[in-house]
Amino acid sequence: MIFQKSSPLKGELTVPGDKSISHRAVMLGAISEGTTRIRRFLEGADCLSTIDCFRAMGVDIRRTPSEILIHGKGLHGLTQPKSILNVGNSGTTTRLISGILAGQNFTCELTGDDSIQKRPMKRIITPLTAMGACIESIHGNGCAPLRIQGKPLNPVSYNSPVSSAQVKSCILLAGLYAEGQTSVTEPYVSRNHSELMLSAFGAQVECKDTTASVLGHPKLHGQSVDVPGDISSAAYFIAAGLLIPGSEILIKNVGINPTRDGILRVCGQMGANIQLLNERKEGLEPVADLLVTSSSLKGTVIEKGLIPTLIDELPVIAVMAAFANGTTIIRDAEELKVKESNRLDIIVHHLQVMGADVTPTEDGMMIKGGAPLHGAVLDSHLDHRIAMAFAVAGMAAEGKTEITRGECVDISYPEFYRDLTALTIL
Ligand code: S3P
Repeated sequence: MIFQKSSPLKGELTVPGDKSISHRAVMLGAISEGTTRIRRFLEGADCLSTIDCFRAMGVDIRRTPSEILIHGKGLHGLTQPKSILNVGNSGTTTRLISGILAGQNFTCELTGDDSIQKRPMKRIITPLTAMGACIESIHGNGCAPLRIQGKPLNPVSYNSPVSSAQVKSCILLAGLYAEGQTSVTEPYVSRNHSELMLSAFGAQVECKDTTASVLGHPKLHGQSVDVPGDISSAAYFIAAGLLIPGSEILIKNVGINPTRDGILRVCGQMGANIQLLNERKEGLEPVADLLVTSSSLKGTVIEKGLIPTLIDELPVIAVMAAFANGTTIIRDAEELKVKESNRLDIIVHHLQVMGADVTPTEDGMMIKGGAPLHGAVLDSHLDHRIAMAFAVAGMAAEGKTEITRGECVDISYPEFYRDLTALTIL
């Protein structure tokens, strides 16, 4: 994919459905009684992996042009898959489904692509084992492939060392199969879509400070879920709209859950002009339309509790920082090293190749903004968020940028390049 310095972006778009919410809607629909309908489901490769896994466990899931229809099997109705479950590139599928599999009455294995086989799974193996689950990393390296022998579970109160919604959700889902209350406490609150959706499906959920709890053995009932637009996908258009002079774009129906809206807060700190219009709720999730007008940005500090609320947006936030006036410091972001790629290393490398003044630190980076950026040939490392963040960088920099292996955007945003081009005035 080739990008050049862009003319102003104008017009409106609706980004695809939220990836985290789409995964969870399929999972909860599969283990509920009755029918679940999901509108604006994200048809990205990761969420399709989740559908495939539940189909392999006997769940009837239909895709129509307007919705996904799931005939739930109830908490104990999944059946043993005939072959190894394939989670593709999806960390969310791997970690959340493991919580569900731990409580079944069958054994199964799951694995995924090269990237997933390098991602840390001890973070779920430890708490699930504490619940009495039988889960092992088949190669003994703490990564997938995993073998999970389902059994009745015990509740836990787990203090998670990481603020990770995947870990939290894995434990809460396993908690559905345990007698009594299961709790997870994390250093800072991570995205709370599981908690919101579990309670909408009928589970008893409590959230207090950084602790989320669920009562075991609930009766879950199928629901209609309207998936808001994914703020993580909107982030690329927010950044492009702010960075490309003369731009004004309206991004419609974006999820602005406070556990996900860190990018909006950081944009505020950086002096961005973004107006939230038509604020409303889609079920339990807050949404708004975002009017983004190109702005002159200034550097900022991004750390602590803000990090989990913008963890997937950090690649594109780093790009914005490179074009801002002054210094941006990102710290407490070591989790970026264990995403689909080592995002810390790759962001620093790619920005440096484009001419930015960036210094890596142990848990983040320091970006001295304002150095002129020029085009470059940049590999996606098969990481969708790297491809999209540096497509935006290429549209704001001088000269030509080539993103190699850019097709990986279909993990979370199959029509990304089409939507970006549609806003460009020729
Ligand atoms: C996700 C949680 C985050 C995020 C990922 C989706 C989720 O991961 O980076 O893209 O849906 O729960 P961690 O839980 O590893 O922080």
